[in-house]
Amino acid sequence: MKDKVVRVGVLVSGSGSNLQALIDSVSTGYIRNARVALVISSRADAFALERARKAEIEAIFLNPKDFGGSVEYSQVIAGLMSERVVDLVCLAGFMRKIEKPLLERYPRRMMNIHPALLPKFGGKGMYGHYVHEAVLRAGEKESGPTVHFVDEQYDHGLIILQRRVPVMPDDTPETLAKRVLEQEHKIYPEAVKLFCEDRLEVADGKVIIK
Ligand code: GRF
Repeated sequence: MKDKVVRVGVLVSGSGSNLQALIDSVSTGYIRNARVALVISSRADAFALERARKAEIEAIFLNPKDFGGSVEYSQVIAGLMSERVVDLVCLAGFMRKIEKPLLERYPRRMMNIHPALLPKFGGKGMYGHYVHEAVLRAGEKESGPTVHFVDEQYDHGLIILQRRVPVMPDDTPETLAKRVLEQEHKIYPEAVKLFCEDRLEVADGKVIIK
């Protein structure tokens, strides 16, 4: 992949600050051989759609309610990603379940970012402020984002990168979220860059950075 341009498809549902970090990392040349080729949102009002359009990236709102269920929804996404010749799918705040049709189309070619140090504080219901609330309730001294490959379970696939930040005694879920998000914007581009440079290898059930 080192020599070819990697076409990235991004799935979003919200603000899209991670999408923005990916767009910027391509436009500044931090990632030299990638192009964000398609953005799909599960919500019509996601600010991420505006970010994509501003960057002249094709941006599609796909209403989950228009489909017969999450499997069909994943099937349609997989079809669109294939049509646009997407090589890597990045989940960036995407709030819908990923089902087999998409997983099977993009094995080890689909990543997610989660705002905690997996395997802790992941899984169903662990999203947004719930994650940071749980971290604070557990009295953790550290938190931080995780980028991982996507498999059939929520927040479960092989870990690619993590970054630690301190949890401060006076943190609220909002202050902690902000500190973690700053690092998200660094490690997601880093992980995508490693993928684009063909530097991610899986051995003994772990991701090795070559
Ligand atoms: C981030 O905290 C990410 O870790 C989680 O959802 C949030 C998305 O934020 N999966 P944004 O839409 O990228 O700003």
